[in-house]
Amino acid sequence: MNSLRRVLVSPSFNSPVRFTSTTTDGSPKPKTGILMLNMGGPRNSEEVKQFLTNLFADRDIIRLPVQNKLGPWIANRRTPSIIEKYNEIGGGSPIYDWTSKQGALMCAKLDQLCPESAPHKAYVGFRYAKPTTEEALEQIEEDGVEHVVAFSQYPQYSCTTSGSSMKAIYRYFQQNYPLKTPGPTGDGVTWSVIDRWPTHPLLIKTFAQNIMKELDTFPEHIRSQVVLLFSAHSVPQYVMNRGDPYPAEMGATVQLVMQELGWCNPYRLVWQSKVGPLPWLEPGTENTIKAMVKKGQKNLMLIPIAFVNDHIETLHELDIEYAQDLGKEVGAERIGRCAAPNCDPTFIDCLADLVSTHLKSGETVKPQMLMTCPMCTEESCKDAKMWWSKATGYLEKQQKVASSA
Ligand code: FES
Repeated sequence: MNSLRRVLVSPSFNSPVRFTSTTTDGSPKPKTGILMLNMGGPRNSEEVKQFLTNLFADRDIIRLPVQNKLGPWIANRRTPSIIEKYNEIGGGSPIYDWTSKQGALMCAKLDQLCPESAPHKAYVGFRYAKPTTEEALEQIEEDGVEHVVAFSQYPQYSCTTSGSSMKAIYRYFQQNYPLKTPGPTGDGVTWSVIDRWPTHPLLIKTFAQNIMKELDTFPEHIRSQVVLLFSAHSVPQYVMNRGDPYPAEMGATVQLVMQELGWCNPYRLVWQSKVGPLPWLEPGTENTIKAMVKKGQKNLMLIPIAFVNDHIETLHELDIEYAQDLGKEVGAERIGRCAAPNCDPTFIDCLADLVSTHLKSGETVKPQMLMTCPMCTEESCKDAKMWWSKATGYLEKQQKVASSA
């Protein structure tokens, strides 16, 4: 549906059509939608080029000179080698399958835990792959959902990832309903946000259990010497200089996982997947492996601490490029890899607990999500945060507090 038609046909996103008790596919009409936000990945080789084009067009994650020309050019140039990598892991990214399964399992639990907001339905909204955030939002409207939880699937917040998804939602409504002020007034859709959860006890427990399982595969006499390398996706240094919370939140996750493990092994937080010539967060995972092995620490474990699903960065970069190929090249004895949370029952409990606690609390957004980075000068960040403060009812609440003071 184009923008103008959307404005004419459905004059307010606060008043969607909700005449039936079932959706178009015959399933019961959901009362609460859980919009699971992530970067996504191409499901097959045909989707690779579009995925890369979308990624290189996003100025929240990548800044290029003449981006509208250079972005598609780089995407085009990288497509064949990226297709090759996907072919080595089975032809496509499993991130859609994992996210859909996680969503379905989480919602089954939520229907039990929160009957007052049931039925719950999960919607997958990817930033660069199908189903896109915009497609998910259209489906949510079609289904006539009453309350939507925007649920970031990045446990640690960065403006380049979770922030980019939050902006995509803001832009969707700006483009389609430019004349409407968002907010919980009237009988319309209400919104709330779970933007980060780096210290959730069940997230910590999931990683700790998976690390223990992988440690058990090392011979007992060297087990306590295995170096645990928590590997998170790196980000450009200029992003950090703006005051992005990502590295601090990553450090918090790592510290709590190590505490849960009783500080059983030596460990480091390292950063993977750097692209381009600009400085990014260091040390890189690849260089760390080389340096550690050179120093005689030949048994290592890679832990994908920023990812809740397997995708190309775990299945190809960690498993094939580092654990297998680089390990052999530098003479490591063994480089293991801790499993990603995927559909681990403890992790599904984590997702369900996060959402049920959020729904029961009545809180719609945390103030942290609404503050721009200290050194951010982007108008689009300011506008998006203002939109969210209205859409979640935060602004209205603050105004009431101020007028009654
Ligand atoms: Fe963080 Fe703009 S870059 S709010």
